[in-house]
This record gives sequence, structure tokens and C-alpha cells, in this order.
Amino acid sequence: MCPGSFDPITSGHLDIVERALSLFDRLVIGVADDVGKESLFSLETRVALVRGAVADKAEVTVDSFSGLLVEFARRHGATVIVKGLRAVSDFEHEWQMAQFNRRLGPEVETVFIMASHQYTFLSSSLVKEIAAYGGDIEGLVPIQVEKELSQLYGRQKS
Ligand code: PNS
Repeated sequence: MCPGSFDPITSGHLDIVERALSLFDRLVIGVADDVGKESLFSLETRVALVRGAVADKAEVTVDSFSGLLVEFARRHGATVIVKGLRAVSDFEHEWQMAQFNRRLGPEVETVFIMASHQYTFLSSSLVKEIAAYGGDIEGLVPIQVEKELSQLYGRQKS
């Protein structure tokens, strides 16, 4: 299970998905409904963009969830939560969540995968910020996301 807010999905997320598929036969991407912050894209759009980005991967299913992640994992029969780590700065929050998830669902293990070095600086928030100011985000997000952001911020993608 690979959970996140995916607001929107980036090439960094896809890198983790691909790395996870080298370890696991099946992957469920869980798009969180309530992410504790205002999201740019609606849940439906976030799910659609994730689905589009992994359409070529038969082993991957995409579903949305609200409430506790471990409950969602249980519903899908998932026993592993996969999270990506970009830098040490990600660690503390991820460590805290992993400890809580272990307390809430001891049967579910959290596994961390190191992001590829070219994506260590990449985040959905910065992609949105760059796009909002008309900057080039080519290669940082799947093409459909790039189009969606260009449309939103009025930058035409040729
Ligand atoms: O992409 P994000 O914002 O880092 O994803 C965070 C997410 C959605 C994985 C996390 O907030 C989450 O698991 N939310 C579900 C609620 C939950 O189970 N909280 C307890 C975990 S400590």
C-alpha cells in the first residue's frame, strides 16, 4: 500500500511506485481524502490523475480513503505500507507516523524506500508553486498533471 495526498502526483511518487513494484507483486495506491490541509485538486481529480499516471501498470490499483490508513490497509488485505524518503528532513514525521501506525495496526509493517537522487528536491507543494508562477515543470510531473496545472494557471502547453 502506497498512501499519500497526491496533490498532485509527481514523478517522485512514480519513482517510489516503480521501486515498490520491484519488491511487491501488487500495490494499492491510497489517495487520502482528508489530508489535514487544503488541497488544490479535488479528491476525484487527484484519483483520476494517479490512475492516469499508472494506467500502464496492471499490478497497481488506485483507491481513495478517509479515516485511518491502517483500516484502509486492512480493507485491502495489505500488510505493508510503503513510504518514500527524500531526505533526512522527511524522516522525523515519517518515523512518528510509522510508530503510530504500528500501534494502531501491529500486523502492518512500514517500509521506507529511498527516492532517486534526481527527485530528492521534488514535492507536490513546490511543483504547484512553480506552476502558479508560470515556471517550467516539465518532467517533474506526469504529462496529464502538467496539462492540468497549465490549464489551471493559464500557461499553454504546446
Ligand atoms: O502525501 P502525504 O501528505 O505525506 O500523506 C500523508 C498521509 C495521507 C499518508 C497521512 O496523513 C495518513 O496516513 N493519513 C491518514 C490518517 C491516519 O491514519 N493518521 C494516522 C497516521 S499517524
